[in-house]
Amino acid sequence: MKYGTKKGNLAKMRTPCLVLGIYENGVLTDSARKIDGACNGSLKKILQRGDITGKPNQVMLLHDLPGIAATRVLLLGLGDPDTMDAARFIGIARSLGAQLNTLAARHALCCLLEVNCEGRNSNWKTLRLVEHIAAARYCYTDMKGVTTPATAGAKAKAEQKKTELEALDFFVPSKSEATQVAAAITAAKALVLGMNRAKDLANTPSNICTPTYLARHAQKLARKYPSVTTKVVSEEEMKRLGMGAFMSVTQGSDQPGKLIVITYKGGKAKTKPHVILGKGITFDSGGISLKPGAGMHEMIFDMCGAASVIGTITAIAEQRLPINVVGMVAAAENMPSGVASRPGDIVTTMSGQTVEILNTDAEGRLVLCDALTYASRFKPLTVIDIATLTGACVIALGNQASALYANDEELAADLIKAGEDTQDRVWRMPLWEEYQAQLNSAFADMANIGGREAGSITAACFLARYTKQYRWAHLDIAGTAYRGGGAKKGATGRPVTLLWEYMNQLCAKHDATH
Ligand code: BES
Ligand code: MN
Ligand code: ZN
Repeated sequence: MKYGTKKGNLAKMRTPCLVLGIYENGVLTDSARKIDGACNGSLKKILQRGDITGKPNQVMLLHDLPGIAATRVLLLGLGDPDTMDAARFIGIARSLGAQLNTLAARHALCCLLEVNCEGRNSNWKTLRLVEHIAAARYCYTDMKGVTTPATAGAKAKAEQKKTELEALDFFVPSKSEATQVAAAITAAKALVLGMNRAKDLANTPSNICTPTYLARHAQKLARKYPSVTTKVVSEEEMKRLGMGAFMSVTQGSDQPGKLIVITYKGGKAKTKPHVILGKGITFDSGGISLKPGAGMHEMIFDMCGAASVIGTITAIAEQRLPINVVGMVAAAENMPSGVASRPGDIVTTMSGQTVEILNTDAEGRLVLCDALTYASRFKPLTVIDIATLTGACVIALGNQASALYANDEELAADLIKAGEDTQDRVWRMPLWEEYQAQLNSAFADMANIGGREAGSITAACFLARYTKQYRWAHLDIAGTAYRGGGAKKGATGRPVTLLWEYMNQLCAKHDATH
């Protein structure tokens, strides 16, 4: 998809689809007013019939308005002009994306940058429009009508195009605005690339997307971007490092576990990195504490944290963001077998603390705790881990917000802000010392589960015992990273946008303070 800018006389601009906003109660945007003037008030007349009132997300498609060069006009309801905020603007961007998918038009011209949105400039509006139009266009088709040697040449590839649209232009009032919007488009395309990468990886089924597959993918990134290097820590090395918790998860699987370290150097050579660490359980059967069969297939998504790390690194490498980031992926498969770990097993973590595994299905924290200990070798400025960690998080927050835990106020505030700005939102949860007692074990330093109550919190409390040396945040994305069920299931790409925005804001802050 091509994105660009256009300026000029709107009525004379040839496009198969002109996108105009309509405020509630028939108030027109500047562009809509211009079009209405050129077509002798036809637009106002149509609005007066009352079929579209300008309520948020309403749509109406008009053909062949007299006096204008555009063949279609797509009207989008914007709601009340005085209360337009980020959430509503993004909702409108989403309905535009959905509408564009239904049209046969190959090009469109979008006049939504002129829509006032409290505290948001055209850079932000461009980012959100491109992000959500691209999201509406995304579909995972790698596994549909796959060409095999037997079907090659037989036109086996299924019809995979979701939409006819090939190019979208943003209408801008001036040359300087065009330059700004063009820069925003470039940034947005990097974000979309990372986002789609995350979705593709997360949607790839577990028989293909193994820890080895993730490692190969990370190595491919290093070949594509000179600023990226990849190192893969093997099981042998993990054993040498004393990663008894990580090893206890991967030992039941025939697929070798991998600790993948992707280093992105965009900042000054001597600046310490920020670390992002993703849970990469490529399939979570629960292990010997086997999950129930219904819905178990959703556990292909138990590597969404890992996918978001790889997606975010892809986006910032593509964008050449001036920052140093180490992306880590704790990749393993959680399977039952004759050599799998048992409930009651006690393992020694790389930190030296011992863990009694009371439930082998609480495996995410086991791979993460050793990876978090490993992370301290980078002397990180901050560490953020991202994990589909607990079903309890889905019960607490549903699929709107990711749970945020942090041992540092500034880091928490930065993530909350990036979440609000992108509407890839987080909600802070407590890490109070009082919850730690739920992890008490009779035999070891801690148990790997804390009972039924406050399950997302006790999982975070477990991780907190391994992150005392640095500023740390944990994102439980079990409810936000994917949609389960039926034919509409799939990864959402969250929280790539959040992490990407957070890193962009870090760079801006750094620029301002140094
Ligand atoms: N991957 C799951 C968490 C999960 C559940 C993610 C549902 C998305 C949807 C995790 O490994 C797990 O199984 N957690 C257990 C922990 C429990 C045994 C303490 C859970 O949430 O039930
Ligand atoms: Mn599990
Ligand atoms: Zn899991």
